[in-house]
Amino acid sequence: MHIDIITVVPELLESPLGHSIMKRAQEKNLLTVKTHHLRQWAVNEYGQVDDYQYGGGAGMVMMCEPLANAIEGLSKERSYDDIIYMTPDGEQFNQSTANQLSLKNNLLIICGHYKGIDQRIREHFITREISIGDYVLSGGELAAAVVVDAIGRLLPGVLNNETSALFDSFQDNLLAPPVYTRPADFRGWKVPDILLSGDLKKIEDWRYDQSVERTTSKRPDLL
Ligand code: ADE
Repeated sequence: MHIDIITVVPELLESPLGHSIMKRAQEKNLLTVKTHHLRQWAVNEYGQVDDYQYGGGAGMVMMCEPLANAIEGLSKERSYDDIIYMTPDGEQFNQSTANQLSLKNNLLIICGHYKGIDQRIREHFITREISIGDYVLSGGELAAAVVVDAIGRLLPGVLNNETSALFDSFQDNLLAPPVYTRPADFRGWKVPDILLSGDLKKIEDWRYDQSVERTTSKRPDLL
């Protein structure tokens, strides 16, 4: 999968996408993420990419021209399955959206800043608008990092044990069951006997019951 990201602060994406599982995914060539500084397409020598909003009001708006040129320029190199704008008023991101997007080949993600991007870009280029939650971030970069991470780990071969993503919370609308590791007794706090029993069928049933119980108490809306 190839993901291009247009941003005015590429540094914000470097660390989240440059370590751990996302790093490994890129080293294995299962995922390519390229950030593109919007200032390359600035309207003047001062690197201008934003301007005051019509009608007055505080806050700058990201201009049409740099964004249109960036999107059209990058679209010459590959055909995007989706051109995504990260925005708090987009559809709420969840596991089902991550699953859908993980099946695509080429994505372009646009990170907004300031007051957001000119509405005409949203109407004429953007195919999907995504929010990661009902709160406002300073820009779309951290949200884009969340989306790329959630998608990237689903790509076949990225996780060591591919099945482990299948048992993540939310994959079947259930939260994941509790997990334990050694020692079996820590300060008298014991690992449930069933997990030490070696009876795989009983363990599977216990985990399922725990998932249902956890979901019922913490997130009944998922059931
Ligand atoms: N940009 C600013 N806030 C955001 C949010 N909650 N989700 C996605 N993009 C954003």
